[in-house]
Amino acid sequence: MSVPADLFEAALEARRRAYAPYSHFQVGAAVRDRGGAITIGCNVENASYGLCCCAERVALFDMVAAARKEPVEICVVADVSGVVSPCGACRQVIYELARDAVIWLCNTHGESRQVLAADLLPFPFTLNDPPAPDRP
Ligand code: THU
Repeated sequence: MSVPADLFEAALEARRRAYAPYSHFQVGAAVRDRGGAITIGCNVENASYGLCCCAERVALFDMVAAARKEPVEICVVADVSGVVSPCGACRQVIYELARDAVIWLCNTHGESRQVLAADLLPFPFTLNDPPAPDRP
């Protein structure tokens, strides 16, 4: 099985929108939900480097903001040899927001590798029963 063409094209289109003037490393992501809607994200960098946000998180946060639920498939693409590998922060966010999704890690030539959130982040941090926040 290889990455579905429509999801890959959406991620490639997202990648073209990347704002990466510092690293010059453009990344695109596309998330398909159970209803079939596709939400995309690109990496967005900042002169204050620590504020850079990866394509995966931009896409997943936009999915939440758009009130889309149940992501079933994610595609991430970058111009790399082999396939792109999400950073640790994105692995944590993918685990929380897209735990059951199939994740396609790709390069711009269409090579892909299929993984699951649990493959990317074994022994994840979770709060199943978070305490009520302290309020003054
Ligand atoms: N980046 C992503 O957007 N996704 C990844 O999976 C790896 C890294 C971005 C962050 C930064 O803008 C640039 O790539 C270089 O690290």
